[in-house]
Amino acid sequence: MTEKPILRALAGDDVWPPPIWLMRQAGRYLPEYRAIRDSSGGFIARCMTPDLATEITLQPIRRFGMDAAILFSDILILPWALGQDVAFKDGVGPVLSPIRDTAALDRLDAERVAGATAPVLETIRRLRLALPELCTLIGFCGSPFTVACYMVEGGGSRDFCETRAMAYGDPGLFARLMELLVRSTTDYLSAQISAGAEAVMLFDTWAGMLSPSQFLRHVVAPTARIVDALNARHPGVPVIGFPRLAGLYAGLYAERTGVDCVALDTGTDPARAAASVPDGVAVQGNLDPIALIAGGAAMRTETSSILGALRGRPHIFNLGHGILPQTDPEHVAELVGFLRSH
Ligand code: CP3
Repeated sequence: MTEKPILRALAGDDVWPPPIWLMRQAGRYLPEYRAIRDSSGGFIARCMTPDLATEITLQPIRRFGMDAAILFSDILILPWALGQDVAFKDGVGPVLSPIRDTAALDRLDAERVAGATAPVLETIRRLRLALPELCTLIGFCGSPFTVACYMVEGGGSRDFCETRAMAYGDPGLFARLMELLVRSTTDYLSAQISAGAEAVMLFDTWAGMLSPSQFLRHVVAPTARIVDALNARHPGVPVIGFPRLAGLYAGLYAERTGVDCVALDTGTDPARAAASVPDGVAVQGNLDPIALIAGGAAMRTETSSILGALRGRPHIFNLGHGILPQTDPEHVAELVGFLRSH
Protein backbone atom coordinates (compact mmCIF):
# COMPACT_ATOMS: atom_id res chain seq x y z
CA MET A 1 0.00 0.00 0.00
CA THR A 2 1.29 3.41 -0.97
CA GLU A 3 2.28 5.98 1.63
CA LYS A 4 1.47 9.00 -0.52
CA PRO A 5 -1.45 10.83 1.18
CA ILE A 6 -3.15 11.78 -2.10
CA LEU A 7 -3.00 8.22 -3.44
CA ARG A 8 -4.29 6.90 -0.11
CA ALA A 9 -7.29 9.25 -0.28
CA LEU A 10 -7.89 8.28 -3.92
CA ALA A 11 -7.84 4.61 -2.86
CA GLY A 12 -10.66 5.37 -0.41
CA ASP A 13 -8.86 6.00 2.91
CA ASP A 14 -10.02 8.90 5.03
CA VAL A 15 -6.66 10.54 5.63
CA TRP A 16 -6.68 13.17 8.41
CA PRO A 17 -6.00 16.02 7.99
CA PRO A 18 -6.88 15.66 4.31
CA PRO A 19 -4.05 16.09 1.81
CA ILE A 20 -4.03 19.33 -0.20
CA TRP A 21 -3.18 20.68 -3.64
CA LEU A 22 -4.82 23.57 -5.51
CA MET A 23 -6.04 23.90 -9.07
CA ARG A 24 -3.81 26.40 -10.94
CA GLN A 25 -1.27 26.21 -8.11
CA ALA A 26 1.40 27.13 -10.68
CA GLY A 27 0.71 30.40 -12.46
CA ARG A 28 0.55 34.15 -12.52
CA TYR A 29 -0.08 34.73 -8.78
CA LEU A 30 3.49 33.49 -8.14
CA PRO A 31 6.29 36.04 -8.73
CA GLU A 32 8.65 33.20 -9.67
CA TYR A 33 6.22 32.16 -12.45
CA ARG A 34 5.91 35.75 -13.69
CA ALA A 35 9.71 35.98 -13.86
CA ILE A 36 9.86 32.93 -16.16
CA ARG A 37 6.89 34.19 -18.13
CA ASP A 38 8.57 37.53 -18.85
CA SER A 39 11.78 35.91 -20.04
CA SER A 40 10.36 33.02 -22.11
CA GLY A 41 8.33 32.72 -25.32
CA GLY A 42 4.59 32.22 -25.37
CA PHE A 43 2.43 30.00 -23.19
CA ILE A 44 2.56 26.99 -25.54
CA ALA A 45 6.35 27.28 -25.74
CA ARG A 46 6.48 27.18 -21.92
CA CYS A 47 4.30 24.07 -21.88
CA MET A 48 6.45 22.42 -24.58
CA THR A 49 9.89 23.15 -23.08
CA PRO A 50 10.62 20.45 -20.47
CA ASP A 51 13.13 22.65 -18.57
CA LEU A 52 10.52 25.38 -18.13
CA ALA A 53 7.44 23.19 -17.59
CA THR A 54 9.32 21.12 -14.99
CA GLU A 55 10.54 24.20 -13.13
CA ILE A 56 7.08 25.86 -13.19
CA THR A 57 5.39 22.68 -11.91
CA LEU A 58 7.89 22.49 -9.03
CA GLN A 59 7.52 26.14 -7.94
CA PRO A 60 4.41 25.69 -5.74
CA ILE A 61 5.80 22.40 -4.38
CA ARG A 62 8.96 24.12 -3.15
CA ARG A 63 7.09 27.11 -1.77
CA PHE A 64 4.15 25.36 -0.07
CA GLY A 65 4.96 21.64 0.12
CA MET A 66 1.70 20.61 -1.58
CA ASP A 67 0.77 16.92 -1.45
CA ALA A 68 0.39 16.81 -5.24
CA ALA A 69 2.01 18.48 -8.21
CA ILE A 70 -0.12 19.05 -11.29
CA LEU A 71 1.73 19.00 -14.56
CA PHE A 72 2.13 22.52 -15.98
CA SER A 73 0.24 22.35 -19.27
CA ASP A 74 -3.25 23.21 -20.52
CA ILE A 75 -6.42 21.47 -21.67
CA LEU A 76 -6.01 23.20 -25.06
CA ILE A 77 -2.70 21.45 -25.76
CA LEU A 78 -4.73 18.52 -27.14
CA PRO A 79 -6.53 20.55 -29.87
CA TRP A 80 -3.16 22.16 -30.66
CA ALA A 81 -1.57 18.69 -30.94
CA LEU A 82 -4.45 17.57 -33.19
CA GLY A 83 -3.44 20.35 -35.59
CA GLN A 84 -5.93 23.11 -34.72
CA ASP A 85 -4.52 26.67 -34.61
CA VAL A 86 -4.38 27.62 -30.91
CA ALA A 87 -2.92 30.83 -29.49
CA PHE A 88 -3.00 32.29 -25.98
CA LYS A 89 -3.35 36.08 -26.20
CA ASP A 90 -2.59 38.37 -23.27
CA GLY A 91 -5.73 39.91 -21.85
CA VAL A 92 -7.92 37.90 -24.26
CA GLY A 93 -7.35 34.23 -23.42
CA PRO A 94 -7.24 31.34 -25.85
CA VAL A 95 -8.02 31.96 -29.54
CA LEU A 96 -8.61 28.94 -31.84
CA SER A 97 -9.60 28.52 -35.50
CA PRO A 98 -13.22 27.34 -34.99
CA ILE A 99 -14.26 23.83 -36.04
CA ARG A 100 -17.76 24.30 -37.50
CA ASP A 101 -17.88 21.93 -40.51
CA THR A 102 -16.66 18.59 -41.84
CA ALA A 103 -13.79 20.19 -43.75
CA ALA A 104 -12.36 21.78 -40.58
CA LEU A 105 -12.85 18.57 -38.61
CA ASP A 106 -11.15 16.53 -41.34
CA ARG A 107 -8.04 18.70 -41.07
CA LEU A 108 -7.47 17.44 -37.50
CA ASP A 109 -5.25 14.40 -37.20
CA ALA A 110 -5.06 12.09 -34.18
CA GLU A 111 -1.82 10.63 -35.55
CA ARG A 112 -0.04 13.91 -34.76
CA VAL A 113 -0.71 13.83 -31.02
CA ALA A 114 1.98 11.42 -29.86
CA GLY A 115 4.76 13.33 -31.66
CA ALA A 116 3.49 16.78 -30.76
CA THR A 117 3.13 15.96 -27.05
CA ALA A 118 6.47 14.15 -26.65
CA PRO A 119 7.97 17.12 -24.71
CA VAL A 120 5.10 16.89 -22.18
CA LEU A 121 5.92 13.24 -21.55
CA GLU A 122 9.58 14.19 -21.08
CA THR A 123 8.47 16.79 -18.50
CA ILE A 124 6.54 14.07 -16.64
CA ARG A 125 9.59 11.78 -16.56
CA ARG A 126 11.76 14.60 -15.18
CA LEU A 127 9.14 15.52 -12.58
CA ARG A 128 8.99 11.99 -11.24
CA LEU A 129 12.73 12.16 -10.59
CA ALA A 130 12.57 15.62 -9.02
CA LEU A 131 9.47 15.50 -6.79
CA PRO A 132 9.64 14.91 -3.02
CA GLU A 133 8.99 11.34 -1.95
CA LEU A 134 5.40 11.81 -0.71
CA CYS A 135 4.25 14.17 -3.45
CA THR A 136 1.90 12.69 -6.09
CA LEU A 137 2.20 13.72 -9.76
CA ILE A 138 -1.16 14.42 -11.40
CA GLY A 139 -1.54 14.45 -15.19
CA PHE A 140 -4.65 15.86 -16.86
CA CYS A 141 -6.76 16.61 -19.90
CA GLY A 142 -9.92 18.55 -20.47
CA SER A 143 -13.03 16.43 -20.79
CA PRO A 144 -14.23 15.99 -24.38
CA PHE A 145 -17.24 18.28 -23.90
CA THR A 146 -15.27 21.21 -22.43
CA VAL A 147 -12.49 20.87 -25.02
CA ALA A 148 -15.14 20.71 -27.78
CA CYS A 149 -16.57 24.00 -26.42
CA TYR A 150 -13.29 25.83 -27.08
CA MET A 151 -12.70 24.01 -30.39
CA VAL A 152 -16.12 24.84 -31.85
CA GLU A 153 -16.48 28.33 -30.39
CA GLY A 154 -12.91 29.33 -31.25
CA GLY A 155 -12.19 30.59 -27.72
CA GLY A 156 -13.90 31.34 -24.44
CA SER A 157 -17.56 32.37 -24.35
CA ARG A 158 -20.31 33.29 -21.89
CA ASP A 159 -22.62 30.51 -23.02
CA PHE A 160 -20.90 28.44 -25.75
CA CYS A 161 -24.01 28.80 -27.94
CA GLU A 162 -22.33 27.60 -31.16
CA THR A 163 -21.19 24.38 -29.49
CA ARG A 164 -24.46 23.56 -27.78
CA ALA A 165 -26.37 24.44 -30.97
CA MET A 166 -24.14 22.07 -32.97
CA ALA A 167 -24.80 19.26 -30.47
CA TYR A 168 -28.56 19.61 -31.12
CA GLY A 169 -28.57 20.81 -34.74
CA ASP A 170 -25.79 18.78 -36.34
CA PRO A 171 -25.51 15.76 -34.03
CA GLY A 172 -23.56 13.74 -36.61
CA LEU A 173 -20.78 16.32 -36.88
CA PHE A 174 -20.71 16.88 -33.11
CA ALA A 175 -20.55 13.11 -32.49
CA ARG A 176 -17.57 12.81 -34.85
CA LEU A 177 -15.74 15.57 -32.97
CA MET A 178 -16.57 13.96 -29.60
CA GLU A 179 -15.42 10.55 -30.85
CA LEU A 180 -12.07 12.02 -31.95
CA LEU A 181 -11.74 13.65 -28.50
CA VAL A 182 -12.66 10.51 -26.54
CA ARG A 183 -10.02 8.49 -28.39
CA SER A 184 -7.26 11.08 -28.36
CA THR A 185 -7.91 12.01 -24.71
CA THR A 186 -7.71 8.34 -23.71
CA ASP A 187 -4.46 7.82 -25.62
CA TYR A 188 -2.90 11.04 -24.34
CA LEU A 189 -3.81 10.32 -20.69
CA SER A 190 -2.57 6.77 -21.12
CA ALA A 191 0.76 8.13 -22.44
CA GLN A 192 0.96 10.51 -19.45
CA ILE A 193 0.47 7.56 -17.09
CA SER A 194 3.08 5.46 -18.91
CA ALA A 195 5.52 8.38 -18.58
CA GLY A 196 4.93 8.58 -14.80
CA ALA A 197 1.68 10.39 -13.97
CA GLU A 198 0.33 8.65 -10.83
CA ALA A 199 -3.25 9.93 -11.12
CA VAL A 200 -5.08 11.82 -13.85
CA MET A 201 -7.78 14.47 -13.75
CA LEU A 202 -10.46 15.34 -16.32
CA PHE A 203 -11.42 19.03 -16.20
CA ASP A 204 -15.02 19.50 -17.36
CA THR A 205 -15.30 23.23 -16.71
CA TRP A 206 -18.51 23.70 -18.71
CA ALA A 207 -20.33 20.43 -17.81
CA GLY A 208 -22.99 22.36 -15.89
CA MET A 209 -24.28 24.24 -18.95
CA LEU A 210 -26.07 21.23 -20.41
CA SER A 211 -29.65 20.01 -20.17
CA PRO A 212 -30.04 16.74 -18.22
CA SER A 213 -30.22 14.60 -21.39
CA GLN A 214 -27.25 16.38 -22.99
CA PHE A 215 -25.31 16.02 -19.73
CA LEU A 216 -25.74 12.24 -19.87
CA ARG A 217 -24.78 12.11 -23.55
CA HIS A 218 -21.86 14.56 -23.67
CA VAL A 219 -20.44 14.43 -20.14
CA VAL A 220 -21.30 11.13 -18.45
CA ALA A 221 -21.03 8.74 -21.42
CA PRO A 222 -17.70 10.00 -22.84
CA THR A 223 -16.18 10.23 -19.35
CA ALA A 224 -17.26 6.64 -18.61
CA ARG A 225 -15.60 5.46 -21.84
CA ILE A 226 -12.34 7.19 -20.96
CA VAL A 227 -12.36 5.85 -17.38
CA ASP A 228 -13.12 2.29 -18.57
CA ALA A 229 -10.33 2.36 -21.14
CA LEU A 230 -7.81 3.79 -18.65
CA ASN A 231 -8.79 1.24 -15.98
CA ALA A 232 -8.23 -1.55 -18.52
CA ARG A 233 -4.84 -0.21 -19.63
CA HIS A 234 -3.60 0.99 -16.23
CA PRO A 235 -5.35 -0.88 -13.41
CA GLY A 236 -5.12 0.95 -10.09
CA VAL A 237 -4.27 4.38 -11.52
CA PRO A 238 -6.96 6.70 -10.13
CA VAL A 239 -9.03 9.16 -12.16
CA ILE A 240 -10.43 12.42 -10.74
CA GLY A 241 -13.41 13.98 -12.56
CA PHE A 242 -14.43 17.65 -12.25
CA PRO A 243 -17.95 18.18 -13.62
CA ARG A 244 -17.98 21.89 -12.83
CA LEU A 245 -21.32 23.58 -12.11
CA ALA A 246 -22.98 20.15 -12.04
CA GLY A 247 -22.67 19.41 -8.30
CA LEU A 248 -26.32 18.36 -8.24
CA TYR A 249 -25.23 15.36 -10.32
CA ALA A 250 -22.11 14.48 -8.29
CA GLY A 251 -23.52 11.11 -7.17
CA LEU A 252 -24.87 10.11 -10.58
CA TYR A 253 -21.65 11.23 -12.25
CA ALA A 254 -19.49 9.19 -9.83
CA GLU A 255 -21.69 6.10 -10.13
CA ARG A 256 -21.98 6.05 -13.89
CA THR A 257 -18.49 7.19 -14.89
CA GLY A 258 -16.52 5.08 -12.39
CA VAL A 259 -14.18 7.92 -11.41
CA ASP A 260 -12.23 7.40 -8.17
CA CYS A 261 -12.83 10.97 -7.03
CA VAL A 262 -15.31 13.73 -7.84
CA ALA A 263 -14.05 17.31 -7.62
CA LEU A 264 -16.69 19.74 -6.36
CA ASP A 265 -17.03 23.32 -7.58
CA THR A 266 -17.44 26.33 -5.29
CA GLY A 267 -21.24 26.41 -5.35
CA THR A 268 -21.76 22.78 -4.36
CA ASP A 269 -22.70 21.92 -0.75
CA PRO A 270 -19.98 19.42 0.16
CA ALA A 271 -22.03 17.48 2.75
CA ARG A 272 -24.97 16.98 0.38
CA ALA A 273 -22.76 16.10 -2.56
CA ALA A 274 -20.72 13.67 -0.46
CA ALA A 275 -23.91 11.97 0.75
CA SER A 276 -24.82 11.24 -2.88
CA VAL A 277 -21.38 9.91 -3.88
CA PRO A 278 -20.80 6.14 -3.41
CA ASP A 279 -18.77 5.15 -0.31
CA GLY A 280 -15.11 4.79 -1.09
CA VAL A 281 -15.21 7.38 -3.88
CA ALA A 282 -13.16 10.36 -2.74
CA VAL A 283 -14.37 13.96 -2.88
CA GLN A 284 -12.08 16.86 -3.80
CA GLY A 285 -12.64 20.52 -3.04
CA ASN A 286 -14.02 23.02 -2.62
CA LEU A 287 -12.87 26.29 -1.02
CA ASP A 288 -14.05 29.42 -2.82
CA PRO A 289 -11.01 30.92 -4.64
CA ILE A 290 -12.32 34.32 -3.50
CA ALA A 291 -12.02 33.24 0.16
CA LEU A 292 -8.36 32.50 -0.64
CA ILE A 293 -7.99 36.04 -1.99
CA ALA A 294 -9.59 37.37 1.23
CA GLY A 295 -7.43 35.17 3.49
CA GLY A 296 -7.58 35.48 7.29
CA ALA A 297 -10.60 34.58 9.38
CA ALA A 298 -12.98 34.32 6.39
CA MET A 299 -10.73 31.79 4.71
CA ARG A 300 -10.28 29.78 7.92
CA THR A 301 -14.03 29.72 8.63
CA GLU A 302 -14.85 28.48 5.12
CA THR A 303 -12.07 25.90 5.32
CA SER A 304 -13.28 24.61 8.70
CA SER A 305 -16.80 24.23 7.41
CA ILE A 306 -15.60 22.13 4.43
CA LEU A 307 -13.42 19.98 6.70
CA GLY A 308 -16.38 19.41 9.03
CA ALA A 309 -18.71 18.51 6.18
CA LEU A 310 -16.33 15.90 4.75
CA ARG A 311 -14.81 14.53 7.95
CA GLY A 312 -14.78 10.73 8.03
CA ARG A 313 -14.74 10.17 4.28
CA PRO A 314 -11.90 10.19 1.72
CA HIS A 315 -11.29 13.89 0.97
CA ILE A 316 -8.63 15.83 -0.91
CA PHE A 317 -8.66 19.50 0.01
CA ASN A 318 -8.68 21.86 -2.99
CA LEU A 319 -10.43 24.95 -4.32
CA GLY A 320 -13.80 24.95 -6.09
CA HIS A 321 -12.03 26.42 -9.17
CA GLY A 322 -8.51 27.61 -10.02
CA ILE A 323 -6.42 30.13 -8.05
CA LEU A 324 -6.96 33.66 -9.41
CA PRO A 325 -3.94 35.76 -10.46
CA GLN A 326 -4.59 38.44 -7.80
CA THR A 327 -4.20 35.91 -4.94
CA ASP A 328 -1.53 36.72 -2.35
CA PRO A 329 0.85 33.71 -2.15
CA GLU A 330 1.03 34.32 1.62
CA HIS A 331 -2.63 33.32 1.86
CA VAL A 332 -1.85 30.01 0.18
CA ALA A 333 0.90 29.38 2.72
CA GLU A 334 -1.54 30.28 5.50
CA LEU A 335 -4.16 27.88 4.13
CA VAL A 336 -1.71 24.98 3.97
CA GLY A 337 -0.52 25.74 7.52
CA PHE A 338 -4.07 26.02 8.86
CA LEU A 339 -5.13 22.74 7.23
CA ARG A 340 -2.08 20.88 8.56
CA SER A 341 -2.61 22.27 12.08
CA HIS A 342 -5.65 19.97 12.41
O1 CP3 B 1 -3.59 23.78 -12.40
C1 CP3 B 1 -2.40 23.95 -12.75
O2 CP3 B 1 -1.56 24.60 -12.08
C2 CP3 B 1 -1.91 23.23 -14.00
C3 CP3 B 1 -1.97 23.93 -15.21
C4 CP3 B 1 -3.30 24.28 -15.87
C5 CP3 B 1 -3.43 25.44 -16.67
N1 CP3 B 1 -4.67 25.41 -17.22
C6 CP3 B 1 -2.38 26.46 -16.87
C7 CP3 B 1 -2.73 27.78 -17.48
C8 CP3 B 1 -4.51 23.59 -15.92
C9 CP3 B 1 -4.92 22.32 -15.19
C10 CP3 B 1 -5.38 24.30 -16.79
C11 CP3 B 1 -6.74 23.83 -17.13
C12 CP3 B 1 -7.59 24.67 -17.98
N2 CP3 B 1 -7.22 25.47 -19.02
C13 CP3 B 1 -9.00 24.70 -17.90
C14 CP3 B 1 -9.85 23.85 -16.95
C15 CP3 B 1 -9.91 24.39 -15.58
C16 CP3 B 1 -10.51 25.77 -15.45
O3 CP3 B 1 -9.76 26.69 -15.10
O4 CP3 B 1 -11.73 25.90 -15.71
C17 CP3 B 1 -9.47 25.58 -18.89
C18 CP3 B 1 -10.91 25.93 -19.17
C19 CP3 B 1 -8.32 26.06 -19.60
C20 CP3 B 1 -8.31 26.96 -20.78
C21 CP3 B 1 -7.53 28.21 -20.55
N3 CP3 B 1 -6.15 28.26 -20.39
C22 CP3 B 1 -8.03 29.52 -20.47
C23 CP3 B 1 -9.50 29.92 -20.58
C24 CP3 B 1 -6.93 30.36 -20.27
C25 CP3 B 1 -6.94 31.87 -20.21
C26 CP3 B 1 -7.43 32.38 -18.93
C27 CP3 B 1 -6.29 32.63 -17.99
O5 CP3 B 1 -6.41 32.28 -16.81
O6 CP3 B 1 -5.32 33.21 -18.45
C28 CP3 B 1 -5.76 29.55 -20.18
C29 CP3 B 1 -4.35 29.99 -19.96
C30 CP3 B 1 -3.59 29.35 -18.84
N4 CP3 B 1 -3.57 28.02 -18.52
C31 CP3 B 1 -2.70 30.02 -17.95
C32 CP3 B 1 -2.15 29.04 -17.10
C33 CP3 B 1 -1.13 29.23 -16.01
C34 CP3 B 1 -2.38 31.52 -17.96
C35 CP3 B 1 -1.55 31.90 -19.16
C36 CP3 B 1 -0.18 32.44 -18.83
O7 CP3 B 1 0.26 32.43 -17.69
O8 CP3 B 1 0.50 32.86 -19.77
